[in-house]
Amino acid sequence: MEYTSRQMTRKDLPQIIAISRENMAAIIYASWGVEFRDEDLLHMLLEPTAFTEVFESGGRIVAYYSVDERNDNLFINSIQVLKECQKQGLGREMMARIQARAEENQLRGIELWVQITNRPAMEFYRHMGYRMVSRQGNNYLMRRRLDPREGWRFVV
Ligand SMILES: CC(C)(COP(=O)(O)OP(=O)(O)OC[C@H]1O[C@@H](n2cnc3c(N)ncnc32)[C@H](O)[C@@H]1OP(=O)(O)O)[C@@H](O)C(=O)NCCC(=O)NCCS
Repeated sequence: MEYTSRQMTRKDLPQIIAISRENMAAIIYASWGVEFRDEDLLHMLLEPTAFTEVFESGGRIVAYYSVDERNDNLFINSIQVLKECQKQGLGREMMARIQARAEENQLRGIELWVQITNRPAMEFYRHMGYRMVSRQGNNYLMRRRLDPREGWRFVV
């Protein structure tokens, strides 16, 4: 798929919310018994310390990820691919960029929460070299470490 990427601007928010809602509403309902809340996502995306990159193809946003630094780790707040564009390599590309960013900033690792009902995402992260660290409520914490002894190159 041909695409371009750039940093998110406020006018992207409606499309980002639509993609996330379509992907996550059922999973969030199954995990927590609550509706998907746009405002939770907005709050996270508009944090001044968050970095969000969008991917466009055919004049629309087809994917995005949002990360933030937390205690010397890069934390993936959200990573989403439009349903019809999944399984075409966008997820792998975004994870590569996230890893490059963590390396550049000499962070200790990359972390994320995944809902325990979101089996496909868990398998995707595992495939990308992430390992389960702990469970908190209906979430698993997953992590990939950077090893400073390797000159900040990644170890699985
Ligand atoms: C999870 C998600 C981001 C992955 O992005 P994607 O573009 O579909 O994934 P890619 O096509 O880049 O796949 C990358 C690799 O992961 C593998 N993979 C993807 N989904 C997988 C799954 N469910 N199980 C096993 N492997 C999987 C692919 O086979 C591919 O392997 P390869 O590159 O070695 O051949 C995307 O499917 C998505 O947006 N899902 C819905 C939203 C979501 O759950 N986000 C995470 C919230 S925590």
